[in-house]
Amino acid sequence: MSVWTHHKKLERHSLLLVLGIVLVVSVGGLVEIAPLFWLKSTVEKVDGMRPYTPLELAGRDIYIREGCYTCHSQMIRPLKDEVERYGHYSLAAESMYDHPFQWGSKRTGPDLARVGGKYSDSWHTEHLINPRSLVPESVMPPYKFLAEKDLDTRDIVAKVRTMTAVGVPYTASEISHAEADLQAQADPYSTDAIDLKHRYGPKVANRDYDGDPDRLTEMDALIAYLQMLGTLVDFSTYQAQSPANQR
Ligand code: HEC
Repeated sequence: MSVWTHHKKLERHSLLLVLGIVLVVSVGGLVEIAPLFWLKSTVEKVDGMRPYTPLELAGRDIYIREGCYTCHSQMIRPLKDEVERYGHYSLAAESMYDHPFQWGSKRTGPDLARVGGKYSDSWHTEHLINPRSLVPESVMPPYKFLAEKDLDTRDIVAKVRTMTAVGVPYTASEISHAEADLQAQADPYSTDAIDLKHRYGPKVANRDYDGDPDRLTEMDALIAYLQMLGTLVDFSTYQAQSPANQR
């Protein structure tokens, strides 16, 4: 009896055939998926990454609300032209605290993954109020109202706490001080700024972002967010892990 006689059996019993197909197809799945359960992490650990400050988180929500991602990506691909234009390609770790991530798929405007520190705060204010005053050929819409709208901070504690539900490691003190930290970051004279820097690191700047020191506006939050994009990892000391020393 040759092996083909067995195969005939398989082909004539649909249930047997289905079971056979499931068996064969799952081998491919197992080979691809199973190793991920034994890897500690698929995201390389990188120095400098920290969760967003409450003000940055509020700014990020405005970025999402206004649909900035429909024209701007936040992912620099490891291709020569992109790296020359925008800087070091984006690392997985750089969006580890983004829920949802802002990689985007459309670039009507430039990638913003490393826009932090590229321009001054007043450039951003002016540009968001009227993009064409700085870039005459720009097709970006104006967002003047952001400078006129007070930032609603009532839900900031809930926002920060919600992030912990999806794995962002905010501490209990970061949650309970979210409102104070938010106010401190937008105020160059705040005495709470020491606590803010203690919680989020000495690089966090406390200043008036929108040029209107008397008010805390949505513009303040959005610019605080834009100014930190891509600035957390220090690429003068960063070294990509080689497969040999990866654990
Ligand atoms: C209709 C598409 C569109 C939308 C929506 C849009 N932008 Fe833009 N953006 C552009 C274009 C085009 C440019 C390039 C010309 C310019 O600088 O104005 C640009 C430039 C920028 C720049 C300067 C980037 C650089 O490296 O020079 C920043 C920052 C920026 N946009 C932020 C935002 C933010 C924040 C929002 C949401 C509030 C937003 N954009 C919404 C199209 C858009």
